[in-house]
This record gives sequence, structure tokens and C-alpha cells, in this order.
Amino acid sequence: MVQLPYGQRHALVGPPDLWEQKRKFQYDFLLSAGLKPSHSLLDLGCGTLRGGVPLISYLEEGRYTGIEVRSDVLAEAKLELQENGLESKAPTLMLCNDLVELALFRTFDFAWAFSVLIHMDDVTLDAALFFISRHLAVGGWFFANVHTADRPDSTWQGLPLVSRSFDFYNEAFGRNALQILDLGPLSAYGHRSPRGDTDPQLYNRMLLITRTGSQLSCWQYAAIQTLKKSLELTTKE
Ligand SMILES: C[S@@+](CC[C@H](N)C(=O)[O-])C[C@H]1O[C@@H](n2cnc3c(N)ncnc32)[C@H](O)[C@@H]1O
Repeated sequence: MVQLPYGQRHALVGPPDLWEQKRKFQYDFLLSAGLKPSHSLLDLGCGTLRGGVPLISYLEEGRYTGIEVRSDVLAEAKLELQENGLESKAPTLMLCNDLVELALFRTFDFAWAFSVLIHMDDVTLDAALFFISRHLAVGGWFFANVHTADRPDSTWQGLPLVSRSFDFYNEAFGRNALQILDLGPLSAYGHRSPRGDTDPQLYNRMLLITRTGSQLSCWQYAAIQTLKKSLELTTKE
């Protein structure tokens, strides 16, 4: 296997000049949402472990599971893990091209899909949500960002790039026994897109997804307040 130079590795999952910012964003966001070292985390569409590396380092051994659809990208993820000296953390890194078929026989406290649902056609999205609904712990949290602007589908690195309305997502999640809360634009949580103007940033929304009818526990309530505070602070800036 040919090993890619470091900068090019993360170009497999986004703009090479922004990978560090996007790594930090994922770590900072999940920690402010209440992720603790003892929690289990499912990283759907883990890519090259751009976000995975600091999360694996933070979590206790065996708490991180990453799932990826592209084999060349997963191969780079494994090199990234090795080069960061994190193999002893024993994360599970899995290749999967059909989430309908995948059964892990366990549940996760947190699930995360950063810039992943935007690369799924509607059938794949349904499979992914069905997969999440089977693997999210009772009281667990799933965070995912989606694009909600009214614009035509396109492609990115051979995958779809889609934008759907909030109502569309509401229905899709609802069909899979999940409920969503719009936490606002990613920019409110420190995500920057130097090339985009403010409009695309406003349409890049973070969703909090829970099982239908689930209640917030005390620590979740506190975490939501922290998130909302950061939202208010950034909006006032
Ligand atoms: C923009 S990249 C983001 C990668 C990673 N979440 C990060 O932020 O560093 C989107 C990733 O999702 C993966 N992906 C897309 N559809 C998928 C699916 N159905 N199952 C698993 N992974 C998928 C892509 O191959 C790609 O690596």
C-alpha cells in the first residue's frame, strides 16, 4: 500500500488546509456536549481519523468505534492511528458498505457523524438512521450536522453531496424512532469556513438526535445548557 504524505491524508476527508481546525472542532464540541473518557463513542464515517485521533486519545481503552465506507480511507485511518501511537487504546475500526446489514450487538453512549449525512443519498441515509436507532443506548446522544440550504445535489470525491430541508430530516429520523433538536449553525460552536460566506455557514446545522420520547438526564440537561450558552455567546459576538 502506498502511504500518503501527511497533509494529503486528510485531503481524503476535506480541504487540506482546514483539517486541524476540523479536528479541534470535533474534539471541543463533543467534550462540551458532555463526552467523558468512560463513554462509548460511535464515529460514523470516521474517515482518516481526522476527528478520531484526539477522541481515541481522550477516551478509555476500547471506547471508540469508527465505521467507514471507503477502504482506502480506512487504510489511512489505521496508519494515522499507528503514527499517533494510539494502537494501545484498542479502538474498533470497521469497513462497512451496507449499514442495513451491520449488527454490532452493543449500544453506544454517544454517536457522531461529522460531515457524513451530507454524503448520503436518501436510501443510504435511511439505512444509517436505522443503524443508529439500533445502536444508540437508551438515553444516548447522536450528534450530526446536515446542510439545509435549498440547492441541487452534487458530488464530492465520488460520493453524493446533498442538502435537505429540516422537515425532510424530521421525517427521516422520525421513521427510525429518532427525534431531532436543531442546535443551530456550526459557526455558533466555533466552526469556521474561511472560504464560505455567512450563508452556507448558517445552513450547516448541528442536530442533537435522541430516541423518540427519551428524557434528558441531569448531566445531559447541564450539557445542553453549556451548549446553548456557547450558542448565545457566539451569536452576540
Ligand atoms: C467529509 S468526510 C468526514 C470524515 C470524518 N467524519 C471527519 O470529519 O474527519 C465524510 C466521510 O464519511 C464517509 N461515509 C460516507 N458515506 C458513508 C456510509 N454510508 N457509511 C460509512 N461512511 C460513510 C466517507 O467515506 C468519508 O470518509
